[in-house]
Amino acid sequence: MSNNSSFWKRFLQSATKAKEIENENEILLDHDYDGIQELDNVLPPWWLWGFYITVIISIIYLFQAWYFDSYNQQKELENEMRIASEEVEVYKAANPQLFDTSNLVALTDEASLAEGKALFATKTCVVCHLADGGGTIGPNLTDEYWILGGGFDNVYNTISKGGRAGKGMIAWETVLSAKERQLLASYILSLKGTTPAVPKAAEGEIWTE
Ligand code: HEC
Repeated sequence: MSNNSSFWKRFLQSATKAKEIENENEILLDHDYDGIQELDNVLPPWWLWGFYITVIISIIYLFQAWYFDSYNQQKELENEMRIASEEVEVYKAANPQLFDTSNLVALTDEASLAEGKALFATKTCVVCHLADGGGTIGPNLTDEYWILGGGFDNVYNTISKGGRAGKGMIAWETVLSAKERQLLASYILSLKGTTPAVPKAAEGEIWTE
């Protein structure tokens, strides 16, 4: 134990080069500011070496970034962006149902249509399209006329990307999942040919597949 502590003492001494209190007068400067005096300590070696190391590292960086042009922040950014986009691709490949909407189709089973209907009511679509799809601010969704194109792909796309600027139909793709948009589009298509209580006059063009 005493051996250990003397090792520790020697280590601290060589890392700090601190003057022992009893010998402090050897490095006492002769200024005296109202009784406050100053010691002329050497820079502690632990600190000095840290400083030298940063100088060495800065020289290495300088050569890398400026002379060899093998590293700089722009390259680091580009590298990280490349890694991130590779990860995105891997994630997309592992979860095709979330991203590849090209093979989504209209669902026609009752459970899905009921889910779509519930989403239509709770996701505020009803405010502008009415519960039966008759339309108020938004167009009638039950007739064969479509402003932005009928059929599953167009309807899905309209829900995802929104309507024409300033009309009030926002892009829902950041709000609703692909699955929810699929259910909504399916439900809307199932309204075709139904008779809403107060149908809004037709807008757009007749859509044929
Ligand atoms: C703030 C009002 C508003 C809300 C809320 C709203 N819509 Fe719309 N919707 C509109 C308007 C307005 C249009 C017509 C856009 C245009 O003319 O470009 C439209 C168009 C559409 C169309 C295309 C109709 C066509 O004739 O091409 C679909 C499909 C649709 N909305 C579905 C939805 C769904 C699903 C929701 C809920 C997730 C929703 N809307 C919420 C106002 C709204």
